[in-house]
Amino acid sequence: MHNTIWTEQQSIGGGRIRARWQNIPPHTLGQFFLLDVGWTAPIPIFPGETTATGDGGAWVELPPAHPAQPLLAVAAPLIARGPFGKGVPALVECQHLLIASSTLPERVLPFAWAALARGASVSILLGRPYPLAALPIAAEVYVGHIPNLLAQTPNWADGLLIQTEPWQQCLAFAQKSLCPSYICLPFSPPCGNGICASCAVQTQAGWQLTCQAGLILSANTFPNSQTLF
Ligand code: FES
Repeated sequence: MHNTIWTEQQSIGGGRIRARWQNIPPHTLGQFFLLDVGWTAPIPIFPGETTATGDGGAWVELPPAHPAQPLLAVAAPLIARGPFGKGVPALVECQHLLIASSTLPERVLPFAWAALARGASVSILLGRPYPLAALPIAAEVYVGHIPNLLAQTPNWADGLLIQTEPWQQCLAFAQKSLCPSYICLPFSPPCGNGICASCAVQTQAGWQLTCQAGLILSANTFPNSQTLF
């Protein structure tokens, strides 16, 4: 695990900022870092793809209302630990990605940007309005009640990523889906080092710590008709 430091941020429109991140270690889509701020629980960051700054650092984009944005605005160095969790190769390789999010979609949007960058098509279902300028222009975007939108969406996706409630309804949809389907959990793992156990979820293989297994897990990982946490 590495400690990295954020040092600088710039507004890039649409409520997004990009932050300069020194010494960001290798990571894959789906892994996350924990930003230690001292007075509250660490903030998870899913950096997605980064852009080199040219002097050994990397620019990382953060979407509107990301909880790390106000912290970066004070321009003080911040420590980030990670990466945690595992990558999600099935979602990195798909050609027709369907994403659903009823909350702030910052954990799942990096998959949309990456998919579009490699020529895949992307549909995004949102449970509430979100700044259009912060969404990929090439993605199809629908806003409404997520379970209804999922039920109306043609079954063309070869990858499904759900970060939404009601969990039971959406988990059932994901488990019935014919394509690789993943659930993005809403946790903010408190310690990240496997000690506190408060990030545990019940899976078909027993309790798993999501700071190790990842916050994006296959829908088939979870028992049928059971509460997730
Ligand atoms: S966050 Fe503490 S054990 Fe996972």
